[in-house]
Amino acid sequence: MDFVLASHNRRKIAELEAILRTFAPDQTKFRLLSLEDIGVTEEIAEGGATFEENAIIKASVPASRGYWGIADDSGLCVDALDGEPGIWSARYASINNFDAGLSADGNNNMLLLQKLKDVPLEQRTAKFVCVIAVCPPLGKADPITVRGECPGIILEAPRGTEGFGYDPLFYYEPAGKTFAELTADEKNEVSHRARALTELKEMKIIK
Ligand code: IMP
Repeated sequence: MDFVLASHNRRKIAELEAILRTFAPDQTKFRLLSLEDIGVTEEIAEGGATFEENAIIKASVPASRGYWGIADDSGLCVDALDGEPGIWSARYASINNFDAGLSADGNNNMLLLQKLKDVPLEQRTAKFVCVIAVCPPLGKADPITVRGECPGIILEAPRGTEGFGYDPLFYYEPAGKTFAELTADEKNEVSHRARALTELKEMKIIK
């Protein structure tokens, strides 16, 4: 079966693909395509109000072209900021007109540190959330969504060089490391994305 992963974020695609491939022992029956592979090059506007809505919006694009669509919407929810940046995680700095002259991830992390500057470490609890939507081709059945969450603490300074996004600030207590200090394989065992994919695996949609 052909599945199309509806994302343009290469690092995220790599993480999802590494885990998704473990679902399908017979790789000859399972083909994972990208949006580019089916000729979709434009950004998909994420106009939803929740992770679930945004994941469905993205997965519907390949589904409307006759493919099984898979998409995730993910982000960081910080308790002391009432769940911010949440669904705005990728664009946190830009929607706040904040530009420290860094990369998009760098600006987002810098803004987060500024917003939390008066919050002591024990109150800097947060979680990464990942919702994965699977949309059957041409609306033949309702989309399904699964959710994975991973708890952590937002540090006062970045640590580590692996991963992407908020990984250098996200301290994962059971490992005693930030996500950016874990290898890709280590992160894939515990991340919000892995937890959502485990739920998906149990549904046996991908065989
Ligand atoms: P999306 O592409 O709309 O789902 O945006 C997700 C955004 O949330 C990313 O651009 C990152 O800023 C953040 N994010 C999601 N998952 C992770 C992760 O595993 N590590 C670090 N940041 C993440």
